Amino acid sequence: MRKAILIIAVAIIYQINYSNIFAQEISMQEKIESLIKKMTLEEKIGMLHASSSFTSGGVERLGVTELIMSDGPHGVRREHGRDWEADETDEDFATYLPTGITLASTWNRELGYVYGTVLGSEANARNKDVILGPGVNIIRSPLNGRNFEYMSEDPYLTAEMSIGYIKGVQEQEVAACIKHYVANNQETLRGSIDAVVSERALREIYLPAFKAAVERADVWSIMTAYNKVNGIFCSESDFLLNQILKQEYGFDGALISDWGAVHSTKETLMHGVDIEMGTELNMLPNADYTKFFLADSAYEAVKKGEVDEKFVDEKIRSILRLMFRVKKFDERVKREMNTPEHQALALKVAEEGIVLLKNENILPIQKKVKKIAVIGNNAIRKHTQYSIQGGSSQVKALYEKTPLEGIQNVAGKDYEISFATGYLTTRENKADEKLVAEAVALAKESDLVVFVGGWVHGYDDSNWGEGTFDAESLDKLNLDLLFEQDKLIEKLAEANPNIVSVIFGGSSAKFGKWSDVSKALLHVWYPGMEGGTAIANILLGIVNPSGKLPVSFAKDYLDYPSHVLGEYPGNETTVNYNEDIFVGYRYFDTFDKLVVYPFGHGLSYTKFDYGKINIPSIDYSKSDKIKFSINITNSGEFNGAEIVQVYVSDKESSLRRPEKELKSFEKIFLNKGETKTVEFQLNKDAFSFYDPETKKWIVEPGEFEILVGASALDIKQTTFITIN
Ligand code: BGC
Repeated sequence: MRKAILIIAVAIIYQINYSNIFAQEISMQEKIESLIKKMTLEEKIGMLHASSSFTSGGVERLGVTELIMSDGPHGVRREHGRDWEADETDEDFATYLPTGITLASTWNRELGYVYGTVLGSEANARNKDVILGPGVNIIRSPLNGRNFEYMSEDPYLTAEMSIGYIKGVQEQEVAACIKHYVANNQETLRGSIDAVVSERALREIYLPAFKAAVERADVWSIMTAYNKVNGIFCSESDFLLNQILKQEYGFDGALISDWGAVHSTKETLMHGVDIEMGTELNMLPNADYTKFFLADSAYEAVKKGEVDEKFVDEKIRSILRLMFRVKKFDERVKREMNTPEHQALALKVAEEGIVLLKNENILPIQKKVKKIAVIGNNAIRKHTQYSIQGGSSQVKALYEKTPLEGIQNVAGKDYEISFATGYLTTRENKADEKLVAEAVALAKESDLVVFVGGWVHGYDDSNWGEGTFDAESLDKLNLDLLFEQDKLIEKLAEANPNIVSVIFGGSSAKFGKWSDVSKALLHVWYPGMEGGTAIANILLGIVNPSGKLPVSFAKDYLDYPSHVLGEYPGNETTVNYNEDIFVGYRYFDTFDKLVVYPFGHGLSYTKFDYGKINIPSIDYSKSDKIKFSINITNSGEFNGAEIVQVYVSDKESSLRRPEKELKSFEKIFLNKGETKTVEFQLNKDAFSFYDPETKKWIVEPGEFEILVGASALDIKQTTFITIN
């Protein structure tokens, strides 16, 4: 209804003939009401819970087939049987895209969109109705085992990168399911922990990506998180689901619980999720879905008159809306999977998402280098080949090119390339002296060492090195490099100072001597099936790196605000978000704390010069759109891309605000010698903060500084404006 009113309003204001869209909308609503009228209570209840590991119930008699879902954020998961056993089929090889944090590091909105179209297209080809992504939980601590799936510590960047993703998926007639709503910022005790977080921090940090997904991308489904927020489980929170998502943002899609995240019947029926999905129960042989909270006990509650049937009808409406949107009752246009275009996109995202942190004139690899020693187990590791692949986001990759393969393919003709593993992934978490000696000997006789190490997100044995992975259900215990890779790098550097370190992982590793002695550092996250090619292209200078950090890299995890001011991972029951809105660079900047590599940092092989900010006026009213521009020149020797970042600083405020906050950015491609004018426009959202007293976003009149730079700490130009 809300939507119909909106359509009429838009049509009147813009005098557009929306009668067609309106007719479709009305006809969808009529069909939904007519279906609901025909359903028995039992049939309706059957639609509110899982019917197998990745489906929820339909009503066959009325032509409503089961809703089919699949993980996950960076590729369509392999097929599962109805009872969670993997299907033995060759039909489920998929494009393994770089993970969420790699995508965010591109700061390229267009790539976010194409990424979504690839994922949506493959989900469609595999007959899925819903793809369980994007994952947009804010990166609060580097220890979170799922950071590799998420995007950033910054709400604006997260929102901007997920809007295109969602639109891309949904254009393929598949629903995106943005997750995990909300404050699921740790894996430790995720199923029960109570995240105690202020409303201001929720509004300013944890909610914006969800708000943007509803208001700007029209997302069709949302997954509720396992945890509680301020005492109430997310799957039954009237405040989070009804007041915020539905009433304030206007969400009218389906609310799907995380697997096993529902804890009550009546509360959930009256103000909770529409569909209860589950893990624990359906992992047992012969799972009994009638035992779910939204199954038999829900039927009883309605039958006995304890819960009004209108609540059930409302849920069915949301589920049917989702079904109509993904064309479940129509002919859905069949899309493609595993195409060369999809692989090309995987490569492009990796090339733009890999971040060059440091470069002491060693990259790109110079022609005078003859012998390259590639050392490290991640040079030959295929992260998707393990039975346990970081959890639910696993993909059965059609192929995965390792860094060694990439380097051999790209550089094999012009350079002599040798390999030594240097370390192995063992339970002991110790160096193997024989392998170290072999690697050191190889380093000595080579012109350049490319060390490839860091973290892994795939492994065979779930007991292996608990707390040392990028994985679901587990947080890391610390950021120490495993298997004494740090000592290995130091020894290699003694043998040959020309050493480049290529680090995999959803977080940084604890910085120290190993990073000091590395002449260049490349952080590659998990770069997907073409990661090896992308790494090689960057090392060789075929591609100029342009990724920038979507998180701050501090020296160690204990330096982060969630550990200094707040708690991580909290106690047995509760985690207090005492750092409040001071997450990531908002903390480091405001409290003058050192980081090793700041938010937004990333080097290029070329150089960019920033002209002055060109702004027509310095006085504005709250309703003005503030427009300005800046000239950027590529003054170096390579074609390349720069990410121009715009931060806003409130000079005087009644509530403490971060030193500055990201409010806009543009990624621009410049040939060497080229200059481009980059235009920006800020509206009142860029200057406002959430006032918990009045429960409103407000812009306080006064002076603001606009800062334009290449990272949060590399500000090139600033200007002051006044808003009255
Ligand atoms: C994860 C979700 C995932 C679901 C289904 C849960 O354990 O938290 O992200 O989509 O499983 O696999």
